[in-house]
Amino acid sequence: MENFIFNSPTRFIFGADEHKRTGKYLAQCGAKKVLVLYGGGSVLRSGRLQEIVDSLDAAGVDFLLLGGVQPNPGSSFVYQTIEAARPEQVDFLLAVGGGSVIDTAKAVAAGLLYDGDFLDFYRGKPVEKALPVGVVLTIPAAGSEGSPNTVITDEENKIKKGTKSDCLRPRFAILNPELTFTLPKYQSACGICDIMAHILERYFSKTPDNAVTDRMCEAVLLAVKDVAMRVIIDSEDYQAQAALMWAGMLAHNNICGVGREQDWASHALAHQLSALFDSAHGAALAVVFPAWMRYCVDEDVELFARLAERVWQVPASDDKRQMALAGIDRYQEFLKGLGLPSRLEHLDVPEEAIPQLVAQLKAACGDTVGNFKKLSMADAEAIYRGCR
Ligand code: NZQ
Ligand code: ZN
Repeated sequence: MENFIFNSPTRFIFGADEHKRTGKYLAQCGAKKVLVLYGGGSVLRSGRLQEIVDSLDAAGVDFLLLGGVQPNPGSSFVYQTIEAARPEQVDFLLAVGGGSVIDTAKAVAAGLLYDGDFLDFYRGKPVEKALPVGVVLTIPAAGSEGSPNTVITDEENKIKKGTKSDCLRPRFAILNPELTFTLPKYQSACGICDIMAHILERYFSKTPDNAVTDRMCEAVLLAVKDVAMRVIIDSEDYQAQAALMWAGMLAHNNICGVGREQDWASHALAHQLSALFDSAHGAALAVVFPAWMRYCVDEDVELFARLAERVWQVPASDDKRQMALAGIDRYQEFLKGLGLPSRLEHLDVPEEAIPQLVAQLKAACGDTVGNFKKLSMADAEAIYRGCR
């Protein structure tokens, strides 16, 4: 295990009806003028936004409402929002939605305290200060409710890229599983894939001796595997949604990843699919991650075999490589069973687009990507070609 600092200051407020107390939690944070951001309208249709807004009124918290954040959120919306919010003396951001809304709120929170182009932060400039962000989560997926990360697409250059800073970790996150009941099956499946991917990016590590985090990663993967089909069959299964919602947070606030080098190549490859073809993040990962695994299996066959045995119940045998490959097959079958894609063509990505995907990847990440195996751009191209 390597040295680490783990700072997770977010206050997590979990359970039924808690979103109706959002105003109280904002007031406790000293919020005076809140910019409430939401997405394409699911929270309007479900009536949840109204319940949240009513709680702000009841708590005497002044606010501005702004909807329209799109999945794979883009830079132009962030620019517009910063411009709209600047004269309003906003002192707090409230994101009502999933990763796209939360990441947009984080970008605006940093951008409002910066005179330059907010995209500088996504091109390497450290984020040193940001307005506080609160979250009412509506989909277990990205884990942005507990993470220091934000991912935005630079629309001009078509590059999707993240940045991170502890000052971007939300002050509070309200996790009410009931808010997920309106999720379409496909969105839930994408979220499940993303949650698992956040664990796997940490699990595939060259750092030795991760006794605690290895077991934590396996436990979260097993729990997600156990409840996944329940939420696909019945989106109103409260206990299954509750397990998934907490798993989504645990998968990405880094408690399962401390003290170990992490990989993140699959995310970087998937991001280019989202940037160029607007693929849903979880769907892009469902296509990329199994292909990455097959390409990298010989980096540490023992680790792959252990995952196969402990999580995918592949019977132990002396042939570790065969176990490892069987585990990857079971993982991919599991994703397909949720209704997720497995090939580039399922995302409407033609094979001829691969050189452009690689060029975008290089522009976003440089000459190599990932840590478990440092992938050259030729490796990345081979993985895209292996997405089947
Ligand atoms: O926009 P609305 O109408 O709300 O619909 C959304 C959207 O179409 C819908 N949805 C969300 N909650 C719903 C609902 N529909 C019905 N009922 C509900 N309760 O779901 C769709 C997807 O929403 P989105 O916010 O895009 O989903 P997700 O949470 O998966 O976020 C994905 C984004 O997060 C980034 C991804 O790259 C992607 O841009 N990520 C952010 C991370 C972070 N900040 O730590 C880490 C992740 O690896 C990821 O990269
Ligand atoms: Zn992700």
